[in-house]
Amino acid sequence: MGAMSEVVRSYYDREVEREWGRLDRPYRRLELVTTLQLVSRYFPVQGHLADIGGGPGRYTVELLRRGFRVTLVDLSPRAVAFAQAKLAELGLEAEAILCADARDLAVLPPEAFDGALLMGPLYHIVDEAGRAQALAELGRRHPERVLATNVEYWAAVVKPVNDESDAFLCLVMPLRLQEE
Ligand SMILES: C[S@@+](CC[C@H](N)C(=O)[O-])C[C@H]1O[C@@H](n2cnc3c(N)ncnc32)[C@H](O)[C@@H]1O
Repeated sequence: MGAMSEVVRSYYDREVEREWGRLDRPYRRLELVTTLQLVSRYFPVQGHLADIGGGPGRYTVELLRRGFRVTLVDLSPRAVAFAQAKLAELGLEAEAILCADARDLAVLPPEAFDGALLMGPLYHIVDEAGRAQALAELGRRHPERVLATNVEYWAAVVKPVNDESDAFLCLVMPLRLQEE
């Protein structure tokens, strides 16, 4: 594992609880809600989804509750252990919860996925070849739909909202929803 991946992994190992609660903050609720809206609008209504870079499993939980089968993959062993414990606590069952790098998904069964979230790895892998590799690895499983975030567009929203007021958010959200 490269030095940068080690930095990313140890950050998410350390911040796993914070990461679990991240989507409960007011502006992040919008991220959660709009992501799930995109899933319900564009993804198949049922099937097996991959949550690559799924962290402690916040989206996996929501997808399982919506009746999908889900396989979560993440670089951080602590995030993976947290997701396993959280799902057990909530009485939910994923197909698999695996610790692996998005650039090498050999741990996944060869079966095709119906859809995938790739929300994390692309903005943490700093070289173009690595990002291309992550996309190619996922592509080998032929997901019908992929929801991927690169430099997360929410970065443009979060900072002004933190620093200024929520007026900016009111302005940006309708624009984004119109684009989609
Ligand atoms: C900000 S969190 C996002 C978690 C979740 N997908 C979400 O959108 O709320 C980024 C996640 O990507 C994971 N990640 C970063 N680089 C990765 C890689 N190369 N392979 C797999 N997971 C990776 C991190 O461990 C972390 O859990």
